[in-house]
Formats: sequence, C-alpha cells, structure tokens
Amino acid sequence: MNKFFSVADVANLQELVSEALTIKGSPNEAPELGKFKTLGLVFLNPSLRTRLSTQKAAMNLGMNVMVMNMDKDGWALETQDGVVMNGTTVEHIREAAAVMGEYCDILGLRSFPSLKDKEADYSEDLFNKFINYCGVPVISLESATRHPLQSLTDLITITEHKKIAKPKVVLAWAPHVKALPQAVPNSFAEWMSRAQKDGLVDFTIAHPAGYELSEEFTDGANITHDLKEGLQDADFVYVKNWSSFKEYGSVYPVSENWMMDNEKLAWTNDAKVMHCLPVRRDLELSSEILDGPNSLVIKEASNRVWAAQVVLTKMLENLKG
Ligand code: CP
Repeated sequence: MNKFFSVADVANLQELVSEALTIKGSPNEAPELGKFKTLGLVFLNPSLRTRLSTQKAAMNLGMNVMVMNMDKDGWALETQDGVVMNGTTVEHIREAAAVMGEYCDILGLRSFPSLKDKEADYSEDLFNKFINYCGVPVISLESATRHPLQSLTDLITITEHKKIAKPKVVLAWAPHVKALPQAVPNSFAEWMSRAQKDGLVDFTIAHPAGYELSEEFTDGANITHDLKEGLQDADFVYVKNWSSFKEYGSVYPVSENWMMDNEKLAWTNDAKVMHCLPVRRDLELSSEILDGPNSLVIKEASNRVWAAQVVLTKMLENLKG
C-alpha cells in the first residue's frame, strides 16, 4: 500500500480488519519495522484523535514522528497553478510538499473542504497535488470528501461488537448548529456499501429530505427519510451531522427531532451507538446515550490506533520491498 485515501485502496476489507484486530491483541510485535523511518503529520485543520492515535501507532512501530500544524505554524500555502504570488500566499504546494517529502518516508495530510465550491472540494485538488508533489506514500488524515482512517476504525469496531454475522448498520443524520463537511458520512457510506457487498453488514442511511449524500458513496444502501423506519431492528447506529451536498454546504431547517436519545434507541434492536467524535452533547446525541451502556464512542476512538497501525504497517512493509 502506498496511498490510503479511500476504500478503493484496500484490496481485501475483511483481511485488513482482521490484521488490525491481530495488532490490537499484540501491538508491540514489530517495534523495529519503522526504525529510522519518519512519519510526517501535516494538519491544515484541528484534530485530537487523528493526531494522537496516528502518533501512537507510529511509535508502536518504532517510527520517528514530526507534526506540522500548517494552519498555524506554516507559511500561507498557494495551491493554484499559474498565479502570480503577489497576494497573501507565501509558499506554493509544489515546493512545500516536495520539501516535506525530503524529510519524511510517509506523510499524512488533513485538509477540510471549503464547503463553498462543490466542484473544487470534490475534485480533491489539494490532496492530489500533495500526493503528486511529495513523492512518498500518503495517508489521508481526512480530506475534503473522505475520512478513511475513521471508516476503517468504524468497521473494526462493528466487527468486534457484532452479535450476528450480518448486523443492520444505520447511518443516522443528527442536528448541529454549524455547516459540517460530508467527509465522515461519505466515507462511512463508502466503506459500509463495500462491506454490504462483501456480505458483512446490512446498510441503511436515514436523513431528512435535502441531506442526500453524493450517490458515488451510497451504492446499494437502503435510504429513508423516516428515522423510525430506518432505526427498526438496527444493531448499530452511527450518528453524524452533515450539511447539504445538493445545495452545497447549506443547513436546512428540520422540523422533526432527529437527535438520537433513549426514546429512539427503543426503536432499535438494543443498538450500539457510534459517533466519530467530537460530539456536541444533547444536540447531536443525548448525554443519556453517551454515558449509558449502549455507547461505543470511547472504544471506537481507542480503535483509531489499530486502524492507523495496520495502514502504517502495510506502507512500511511496502517501503522495505
Ligand atoms: N474523529 C476524528 O477524526 O477526530 P479528530 O478530528 O479529533 O481527529
């Protein structure tokens, strides 16, 4: 593996999850694999879990880690070609990415969408340029359209906690006060659609009208605008807000109460409740669920380490040839 950007970069989903769970069982089995190798983590946006779990995974493999908070500590980045840089941008991505590639054996990049220009965001122009110019393997730490380390974590967590071979998994839209990217739900839908094709889950998406995700991510999913219908018999509920894809970045008023709480949990098959975090308590998801026995959110966040470690393992093995 020399790129981890989407589910398309994974040859065998079940095998990758199984390897991650083996690593979880004995995380310090390969302390020399990353010896004298450097991982660079480049953040254009904030992070708690991705930043710490990926560092922890790299340390388990003996890697050196450097973190660059590009948004705060880097030069203002120009990403467009053919512009005269006589404005506020100081360094072009062509040089910035190439230089970071000289210092690192593997790079990770986090870059959120603008939510203003759908075409530009969904072209993943910045991410693709970073890959092209850095010259080393790249892991997405969340891009404009996807968050693959989160989605791999989610599949690991579902695999660990499922009680039946093919559980019903529901991605349920939740309210928020801000316009949030579609990256996490796109990615979750993309990974669950693939898992459904592999016979691992039965996948439903429940959201209010107007919040349809791009069809490229939802192939084969059962989609409903009725939360109660969607939650019926659910074994796992993945709670997440996102802004509109159709009216790009818009937040429509929703009259019904879509916040997941114990009353709605009663419509499910005693479902385990997941969320990528950070979560806004009692807006997206009730405190009673977050603090109750059905919540998997902390176990899910803990599993971020094993998702990162299995991906880094594959990349390091590839570097060694
Ligand atoms: N879920 C997630 O990616 O968390 P952070 O944004 O804190 O990294």
